[in-house]
Amino acid sequence: MLVTTKEMFAQSREKGYAIVAPDYWDSNSCKTYVETAEELGVPVILSFAQAHDDMLSLEEAYELGRFYGSRAKVPVALHLDHGQDVETVKKAIDLGFTSVMIDASAQPYEVNVQRTKEVCDYAHAKCVVVEAELGHVGSSDVITSENKEALADDHNIYTEVPMAEQFVKETGVDSLAVSIGTSHGLYKGTPVIDFDRLHELRKALPVPLVLHGGSGSGDENLERCATEGISKINVFTDFTVAAINATNDEDYVNWYKLIKDANAGIKEKLKFYFRLFHTGKAE
Ligand code: 13P
Repeated sequence: MLVTTKEMFAQSREKGYAIVAPDYWDSNSCKTYVETAEELGVPVILSFAQAHDDMLSLEEAYELGRFYGSRAKVPVALHLDHGQDVETVKKAIDLGFTSVMIDASAQPYEVNVQRTKEVCDYAHAKCVVVEAELGHVGSSDVITSENKEALADDHNIYTEVPMAEQFVKETGVDSLAVSIGTSHGLYKGTPVIDFDRLHELRKALPVPLVLHGGSGSGDENLERCATEGISKINVFTDFTVAAINATNDEDYVNWYKLIKDANAGIKEKLKFYFRLFHTGKAE
């Protein structure tokens, strides 16, 4: 069934776990994510990043998400990830995405507030929930050209607690992506997470917290984030890596088999993350 993230986040905050938000880029990844959530009986936030519109248009992404999400036996939120401009985000809301992100985190604070508030006013009138980002999660050095979720040469700006409190009050946003040490893409080492900042943000803010750049961030780091205050963890790159790794050992002559094996690799990776994040307290 298609839902917003409201009930999911109420549960995750109360019980202390995170929900995985995997980014899909085609029908295989979309279907595989939903099937995996159903196998484990856990909620999932099916995410489509605007930057991946070279693979799927917004309309195609919506139709795929709606098709698999609405038939699922588990709660599925259909989310626009990293909406880059207000117009596209409004279009996603009109199409039927149940959750949207407006990402003006690279803009000055006032512009971020203004765009986020405009989206919130529009979305809330249609019962759609909104995520924004304050501080900025940049891109790591290793993956650049293929990881377009954030600018290749940008950098992290950590989220400041008082500014975040002010931002939430001024915008009415439903959840907030915070910058505490992760980056989009793969890393050369394991990032250092600012857990003190996470604890302070969790204590100070009335809204669920989101972590971007889940891939390669270290299992221990991610499990701690999930159980110490983050409600949603975004993962993309690791699923593409899992697909490659699952197809490394064979000299394929059959494309059909290659795709099936890649999907199986993605499924295993997503199961791993559901368990690591204790999603829905899945065993
Ligand atoms: P990774 O590709 O680093 O997992 O980041 C995903 C993400 O944050 C999508 O919003």
